[in-house]
Amino acid sequence: FFLYYMKGILLHGGHGTRLRPLTHTGPKQLLPIANKPMSEYCIESMKDAGVTEIAIIIGGIGSNKVREYYGDGEKFDVKITYVKQDEPLGISHAINLCRSFIGDDKFLVFLGDNIIQRNIGDFANEFLKSNDDASILLCEVDNPSRFGIADMHEGKITKIMEKPKDPPTNFAVTGIYFLTPKIFDIIDNLKPSWRNELEITDALQILLSENNKISYHIITDYWKDTGTPEDIINANRAILENKTSYFYGEKSDSVSLTGIVLIGKGTKILGNSQITGPVIVGENCILDNVCIGPNCSIGNNSQITNSNIQNSIVMSDCIINTPIKIRNSIISSNSEIEFKNKSQDEKIFLLGEGTKILI
Ligand code: TTP
Repeated sequence: FFLYYMKGILLHGGHGTRLRPLTHTGPKQLLPIANKPMSEYCIESMKDAGVTEIAIIIGGIGSNKVREYYGDGEKFDVKITYVKQDEPLGISHAINLCRSFIGDDKFLVFLGDNIIQRNIGDFANEFLKSNDDASILLCEVDNPSRFGIADMHEGKITKIMEKPKDPPTNFAVTGIYFLTPKIFDIIDNLKPSWRNELEITDALQILLSENNKISYHIITDYWKDTGTPEDIINANRAILENKTSYFYGEKSDSVSLTGIVLIGKGTKILGNSQITGPVIVGENCILDNVCIGPNCSIGNNSQITNSNIQNSIVMSDCIINTPIKIRNSIISSNSEIEFKNKSQDEKIFLLGEGTKILI
C-alpha cells in the first residue's frame, strides 16, 4: 500500500562503448541476462516500488528497438512514455528532459544497466513518507575509484564525488535514485564535467551543500552496474543462481541435467549432452552432444552441436558446432561458429566491425 504516488525515469540511452561490438546494433540495456533484457529487471524493480508511470530515455543506436520491445508498457503492466535524448550528455541531462513528465511528484530514477536482486518497495515507502530531498542506495565495492562514492559521518552523508582518485570510503552510489523536483533547478545551473556530461553526482553534491537532506540505505544484496562483458557474465550467473528449474522440452535418455536447469518449450536435448546448471535454454533450440554450463544462457531457436560452452551467453538464432571450447563469451543473435574440418592452422572468418576473438 502506497501512501503517495511516485513516477519513474528509466535511462536507456548512453554510448555503451565498453560493450562494443555488442552495442553496434542496439542499446546495452537490451542485452539479455538469463534470456531477458537487463532493463526489464529495472522495470520489475520499479513496479516493486509502486511505480507504474515510467518515462524511458532513449537515444543513440537502435533506440527504435526499445520502443518495439516495451511499446506503451501494457504487456508489462506499466504506462510508458518515451523521451528522446539527442546526445548522451549525462545522467542529470537525461533527468532534466523529464521535467514536465514529473511535474510536482516525487520520482525514482533507474539506470537501465543496474540490476538489484532486492525488492526496493520498503525504501520507496520510506522515502514517500519522509521529508528527505533525495534518497540513494549505497553498496560496498572493491574498486571504488570506478564509481560515484559517498562519504558519511555519524549516519549522515557529507560528500558525494565521482570516481575519486583517493576514495574516502568503499560505498558506491548505485544507479537507483529517489528524488524530488528540487533537483531540476540544480541541474539547470550545473556545469558539464571534464567528460562533458552533466553528472548526477555533481547534482547530488550541490543538493547536499545547499543544506538539503539526502538519506541513504546500504544494500548488501547483489547489485551490479553491467558496463563491461565480464559484468554481464557475472550478472547472468547471479540471476540464474536464484532461479528454480523447469523443463518444458524433450530429451533423450542419455542426457544428464544437474543443478538449476531451465529448459524452454520445443527445445530438444539429444545425444550424450550434459547440462550443468545454472543454465537457461530458451524455446525451440536443438542441443545435440553438447556440454553446457555452468553459467550459460542460450536464447531461442539456437542450434548447438558437438560443442562445449561454459560461463557464456549465446543469444537467439545462433548455430554453433565446434571442438573449440567456448568460455567467458558473449555471442550475439544470428551468429554462426562452425567446424569445417580444415587443417589446424587454417580458419575462416567473416567478422563484423569491432569483433573480438581470442584464440
Ligand atoms: P554509463 O555506463 O556511465 O555510460 P554509457 O552507457 O555511455 O557506457 P560507456 O561508458 O561504456 O560508453 O551510463 C550509465 C547509464 O545511464 C546507462 O544505463 C546509460 C545511461 N545514460 C543515458 O541514458 N544518457 C546519458 O547521457 C548517459 C551518460 C548515460
